[in-house]
Amino acid sequence: MTEAKIEKKILREEVLSERDSLNWSEILEKSRRIKESFLALPEVMKADTIALYASKGSEVFTHDLIRELLPRKTVVLPKVENARQRVMKLAAITTFEELSPGFMGVLEPLRAAKFVEKSAVDVVAVPVVGFDENLNRLGHGMGFYDVFLKGVEAVKIGLAFESQKLKRIPVSEHDVPLDIVVTEKKVYR
Ligand SMILES: Nc1ncnc2c1ncn2[C@@H]1O[C@H](COP(=O)(O)OP(=O)(O)O)[C@@H](O)[C@H]1O
Ligand SMILES: [Mg+2]
Repeated sequence: MTEAKIEKKILREEVLSERDSLNWSEILEKSRRIKESFLALPEVMKADTIALYASKGSEVFTHDLIRELLPRKTVVLPKVENARQRVMKLAAITTFEELSPGFMGVLEPLRAAKFVEKSAVDVVAVPVVGFDENLNRLGHGMGFYDVFLKGVEAVKIGLAFESQKLKRIPVSEHDVPLDIVVTEKKVYR
């Protein structure tokens, strides 16, 4: 493993053990604030098509955000097409019930879903394990979003709890930085 890879692994473990210690009511309350800040962003207000993801475990809870945006915007979610090659495609949904557990148990659009080109997306919400003030992103260590976000022009918005903010994240050549990070306390841009 390279030095950056080892350092990322250590940071991931630290930040996830802290995040896993949040109780469910704390997660819901912070997530509600994050949802409100996200919805108030001018980039989000003027967007037609928004890529979201369904949260799992101690991640910022996004299910209410998805439900709220469904009647207002074209909502698309990623679907893992080829896990080995880290390929995700985007599919549009019109109701939350169109989601079902896919790769790693993450809710994703059904197989029959209607695919949407990445270039059609105005805003993409990105899951975050850690972030820093330079808006570098630490993910789960599988690189799915680094592959997915490469060459994407949509505004990339990380959703995270303040406790996921790190001093510094080592950056590898393939890492794609965020444009904005929304926490329960602040909007970083
Ligand atoms: N654009 C890419 N093309 C090919 N492989 C990639 C790409 N982006 C990331 N990877 C691979 O994914 C792995 C995990 O990336 P890393 O940045 O450590 O994880 P994460 O962003 O999930 O924290 C890396 O070892 C890297 O080789
Ligand atoms: Mg990365």
